[in-house]
Amino acid sequence: MSTETADTLREEVRRRYAEAARAVTEGGGCGYRSGACCDGSESADFGEALYSLEQRGELPDAAALASLGCGNPTAVAELHEGEVVLDLGSGGGIDVILSAKRVGPTGVAYGLDMTDEMLALARKNAAEAGVSNVHFLKGVIEEIPLPADSVDVVISNCVINLSVDKPSVLTEIARVLKAGGRIGISDVVAEDDLTADQRAERGSYVGCIAGALSRGEYIAGLEAAGFEDVAVEFTHEVADGMHGAIIKARVA
Ligand SMILES: C[S@@+](CC[C@H](N)C(=O)[O-])C[C@H]1O[C@@H](n2cnc3c(N)ncnc32)[C@H](O)[C@@H]1O
Repeated sequence: MSTETADTLREEVRRRYAEAARAVTEGGGCGYRSGACCDGSESADFGEALYSLEQRGELPDAAALASLGCGNPTAVAELHEGEVVLDLGSGGGIDVILSAKRVGPTGVAYGLDMTDEMLALARKNAAEAGVSNVHFLKGVIEEIPLPADSVDVVISNCVINLSVDKPSVLTEIARVLKAGGRIGISDVVAEDDLTADQRAERGSYVGCIAGALSRGEYIAGLEAAGFEDVAVEFTHEVADGMHGAIIKARVA
């Protein structure tokens, strides 16, 4: 992808999610309700429906409404008291708030997002949820603004498919993780036989479909970045041959 195409796509993504944050802030809801974000269909394959009632009870309404994910990474990451968690593309803050509650006052949950409107919404939601062990950082997931060896667990919910430079994202995750650190990621993943054109026929880039990696590409990318025990498991189909998936791995 040329630098110009990458810059244009990233700006399109930023604009789309700024609009989504504004829709929630102004009381209109988001995701599959408004067609403003990931997917845009009237299905429950994206968003708050993927969280348990108990988890939704722990969240302010606006955080649940702003949920644009394709899974529930906090359910797969097995977070422990005192851990440092980083959520890539934290959006309205849903997974950061849930993580902060899991790691408790001795732990920390960071959220990283490039969209000012999402960061403002997430900070408001965290204050409303009464969690203080959270930090929302502005930046891109291709250049994570944290030091090496500083994070126990990286989570992410339907964001890596939106990146214009996925190898850099995976290398950056490996850099910030402490030795033995792990990932628990939800993302849209294509079956291996779908070409890039076939993925693009099934949905847009900003809608979390066209930019999805295939299962084989995800595994190879993580292994190239230094991960081991890599597992990519499909959970639910979101388009023909494309799935919500859980991605787990650890750094050596
Ligand atoms: C589909 S939404 C998911 C939000 C959140 N994870 C959730 O589950 O509700 C994608 C989010 O990732 C952010 N994002 C997309 N690409 C990014 C990038 N390259 N760097 C940082 N943030 C990015 C967007 O601003 C948006 O908030």
